[in-house]
Amino acid sequence: MPEADSATPKQFQPDIPVAQAPFYVKGANSYDWGMQNRLSRIFRPETGRTVMLAFDHGYFQGPTTGLERVDLTIVPIAPYADALMLTRGILRAAIPSSAQNGLVLRASGGPSILKELSNELLAMDVEDAVRLGACAVAVQVYVGGEFETQTVHNLTKLVDAALRYGLPVLGVTAVGRDLVRDARYLGLATRICAELGAQVVKTYYCEADFDQVTAGCPVPIVMAGGKKLEELAALRMADQAIAEGAAGVDMGRNIFQSDSPTGMIQAVRRIVHDRWTPEDAYELYRSIRSGAVGGGE
Ligand code: R5P
Repeated sequence: MPEADSATPKQFQPDIPVAQAPFYVKGANSYDWGMQNRLSRIFRPETGRTVMLAFDHGYFQGPTTGLERVDLTIVPIAPYADALMLTRGILRAAIPSSAQNGLVLRASGGPSILKELSNELLAMDVEDAVRLGACAVAVQVYVGGEFETQTVHNLTKLVDAALRYGLPVLGVTAVGRDLVRDARYLGLATRICAELGAQVVKTYYCEADFDQVTAGCPVPIVMAGGKKLEELAALRMADQAIAEGAAGVDMGRNIFQSDSPTGMIQAVRRIVHDRWTPEDAYELYRSIRSGAVGGGE
């Protein structure tokens, strides 16, 4: 027989209403608990933003510069990222299972850099993503690309499969060589991803009217870093993207190809979460690079 419940008066406190806080991630208010919880492991509750470290490039370009040894270059800086965007192969092979980051797993693939890149198919079952503890799965969408419809269909198939598990989908707008990365194109591509069910969209920054791209997308946009820039320029781009409505960054080469990946990721973090100026963040990067403050190479 279990012990009888205590006879002391119960504390229902009927004068205190139950809190009904809206969920803080854009467009996510009506999602189920599991979906919201996974998003909260990507977007920090304190700021509503994320520093996602992207190093999934090997899925189509093999041993990318800076990613030859993920165990040596990425694992040491991973604790500075809120979330990691990577393939399941690298996750199992190189990332300690004690990692505390939210995981965004690449779920599309097919062609290598030797072929037409837009000819992708889904490349992972969502069950395996759940088995690995993923917080989201990512799929490339080539709006305007040769295999546009196929990649949009990849997105919708993945959304349908992932919804069964409360797993968010990150739609990645891939811009083909012949397409202009302006607000009109990025607005088109990001909105299509969101309309068709992506709970988060990743896209590039554009100098003019990026705020219209973020405003026109009903779910959070995270900024892709793109090709390696000089460090201060990359930090300025991240700052502008946040100022113009991005909910964070999903940067790869501008971090792991820097001469101080540790310095860069900490500088990016200061911009995204603490809204430091790019100049102050750059000074932090320089100090870490030179070993003047913790984390130097
Ligand atoms: C590209 O297809 C991958 O999704 C990369 O993760 C993405 O391009 C972000 O990396 P980067 O900041 O190097 O552009």
